Amino acid sequence: MNKKYRKAIIAGNWKMNLLPTEVKPFAEGLRALLPKAKNCEVVLCVPFTHISPLRRSLKDSRIAIGAQDVSIHEKGAYTGEISAEMLSDMNTHYVIVGHSECRQYHGDTDFIVGQKAAAVLEKGMCPIICVGESLEQRERGLTMEHISYQVRAALSYIPVGKLRQCIIAYEPIWAIGTGKTATPEEAQEVCEGIRSVIRSQNGARAARSVSILYGGSMNAKNAKELLSMPDIDGGLIGGASLKTEEFAKIINAVSEVDGED
Ligand code: 13P
Repeated sequence: MNKKYRKAIIAGNWKMNLLPTEVKPFAEGLRALLPKAKNCEVVLCVPFTHISPLRRSLKDSRIAIGAQDVSIHEKGAYTGEISAEMLSDMNTHYVIVGHSECRQYHGDTDFIVGQKAAAVLEKGMCPIICVGESLEQRERGLTMEHISYQVRAALSYIPVGKLRQCIIAYEPIWAIGTGKTATPEEAQEVCEGIRSVIRSQNGARAARSVSILYGGSMNAKNAKELLSMPDIDGGLIGGASLKTEEFAKIINAVSEVDGED
């Protein structure tokens, strides 16, 4: 499948790490390390409290702001929640939905994930829809069945015309924060499978334009091999996105794959 129809994206997911006061030095450090090349979209998905300082620090930079979750509700009596409109008002361009940690700790179901993605699109932002199997599901040979269900359920909430703004992140749960990465072939097999689910549900044009990311212990050492795979268009990076040098190396791996270096 030809990669020219979609953009490469390297997104950092800080999860619940770093303090708002640490945002400025991080952003300045990362900006200094980034190449001028615009062959890849760089995103930092930070806690809600960090969006405002990040916005100040990223002024005139090519790094985009992302959030890690969103409410399905537009506004009203939902204590503790953050709406899509609040995020877009803060210059947020990307929102992670359905991360396995939100599915596990907050009870997000596939249908809630679909509604969150729709809420994000409604306000003109791009949802990063996370899917992934547990170790048990992989060992029982249920990986693709499970992922297909997750993708179909989420995409059933997305108007066809807006599919191109969606990003899917394949994050095998057993690879998250464990240092155990899926092999490039394992990750490719699932990402290719996700693209064929989109093809069968929404057609070939939609399938070739949706960016699919891999996430799960991606780091400076394994990024290039993973990013070389035909259906892996980028990465969603946890731990390794907290260190400017490591994260910059992963971003630079996109250029190496493109043969620009
Ligand atoms: P790690 O890169 O720390 O394994 O986390 C991956 C992840 O969950 C990104 O969303």
